[in-house]
Amino acid sequence: MQVVLLVGGMGTRLRPLTYDTPKPLLPVLNRPLVAHILERLPKRVDEVLLTVSYRSDDLREWIRTSDDPSLDGRTVHVIDEPEPLGTAGAVKNCTDRLDDTFLVLNGDLVSDLDIGAHIETHGKRGAAGSLALHAVEEVSRFGVVDWTPATGRIHAFVEKPAPGTEPSRYVNAGAYVLEPEVLDLIPEGRPVSLEHEVFPRLVEDVHGLYGFPFKGLWIDCGTPASYLDIHEALLDRADIHNLIGPGTGYDAERMKVEASVVGAGVKLGDGVRLDRSVVHDGAVIGAGVRLVRSVIGRKAQVAPRCVLTDVVVGPGSVVQAPEPLEGVRVGMRDPST
Ligand code: GDD
Ligand code: MG
Repeated sequence: MQVVLLVGGMGTRLRPLTYDTPKPLLPVLNRPLVAHILERLPKRVDEVLLTVSYRSDDLREWIRTSDDPSLDGRTVHVIDEPEPLGTAGAVKNCTDRLDDTFLVLNGDLVSDLDIGAHIETHGKRGAAGSLALHAVEEVSRFGVVDWTPATGRIHAFVEKPAPGTEPSRYVNAGAYVLEPEVLDLIPEGRPVSLEHEVFPRLVEDVHGLYGFPFKGLWIDCGTPASYLDIHEALLDRADIHNLIGPGTGYDAERMKVEASVVGAGVKLGDGVRLDRSVVHDGAVIGAGVRLVRSVIGRKAQVAPRCVLTDVVVGPGSVVQAPEPLEGVRVGMRDPST
């Protein structure tokens, strides 16, 4: 079975971390985000179409050189999109390769969805399309459905409804099983959105659109805060306190590390205190530095005794701050973004 993975975004809200790393390759627990997504796929999903418009060569290089187990037994093709085609346009662009029921996944989510059960339920219902659904409190940031849980049938799909007009608490969790006939509903030659154009039309189709609700973990990786939340949730689920890569000189007697992840070859100075933070490979954290809910990019340097709270430091940037820093991004190339 084939999966179209939608990873066309530029990861703008995660800058400066995404300047030289596409979002799918951002390390999550010291492993690319995309590996966490691929490892959730059942074995029968053995062909992956990665639709990419930003830094696609980095992804090709990773696929070629990585020995990550999520790639075992799968063929991965990188499908270039010189201009973003929208979520439906990206799927349409794969038409020549799609020959049967297929899966589509948003590439910025980590979740507990049982994809195998989702595919099976879709098949039993004979639906044209099935969406994984998750119940949330703040629904208006998402695609929201009006549906009948008893039958699974979706009656309406509204992308990011105005607050107060949401039809339910069930939102589109970014995982779809689709029949090839859905490709016929996607016009060619212009960007098209699944959420704005295709799903609202599928609702009217005889075979229709169905929902597959699931509970448990469901987090997107869109912002530094959610990037940190993913780490906290995955550490918690794996029941590990910290994850510290090789070659860091970590010494529990002289440093305090809480719910944090440290990459390979990081230099940790004496008296360092890390609290719910993530440090990428090769960074240098000076003596006495305190990090709270902060992300330090690859090979960045934080001078001794700096105190950073809710700070993102870009790859290769240097921080030397006599006063505590809070809520800033260091290393932005265009401060207006
Ligand atoms: N190839 C390609 N081309 N991928 C794209 C394009 C494109 O033009 N535009 C967006 N994507 C990818 C993004 O990289 C991301 O992985 C996914 O499609 C969804 O796009 P986002 O920009 O992250 O959308 P969103 O988070 O605001 O909303 C979507 O996800 C929600 C769940 O997190 C929608 O699908 C909502 O309905 C859904 O609730
Ligand atoms: Mg998103």
